[in-house]
Amino acid sequence: MKQHEHRFRYNALRYDELAEPDRRLVELARQATQRSYAPYSHFHVGAAAALENGETVCGSNQENAAFPSGTCAERTAIFYANAQYPDSAVLTLAIAARDRNGRFADAPISPCGACRQVLIETEFRQKRPLRMLLCGETEIYEIESARQLLPFAFDDTCM
Ligand code: THU
Repeated sequence: MKQHEHRFRYNALRYDELAEPDRRLVELARQATQRSYAPYSHFHVGAAAALENGETVCGSNQENAAFPSGTCAERTAIFYANAQYPDSAVLTLAIAARDRNGRFADAPISPCGACRQVLIETEFRQKRPLRMLLCGETEIYEIESARQLLPFAFDDTCM
């Protein structure tokens, strides 16, 4: 038997430890929570993507009475970025969330499995790491590559 171990490193930072462009992106993700449509979960998520061409694209979760038809903030932002600027890599994606009382989530918000799969494919496609900033109220996790969030991801080399 062979045993393997999977580990990854990430940084936990306070807002004031972030570089200015990252602070701006975090603010945009926080603002994007205001544009979420979440009448069912009351969990308002915002995402902001900084692109290689200097553009910033935001998204929020958009729910639907037919539950699976809705989508998460991350996929809204990433698909919009890829639809608008297919040749421009997504360098960093910041994610923030507010609860039904309007308070920012204490713990850094972490993308769901389906979003991770989409983030990873974006990374493969652009051949550059997609860095992530997962925002909590006081702490922000900086993850160097979306790939780290989904070991053994399914991709087209599996087919
Ligand atoms: N949601 C996101 O938008 N992003 C996440 O990372 C986690 C969950 C949304 C989906 C749904 O609208 C609501 O939050 C509750 O799951």
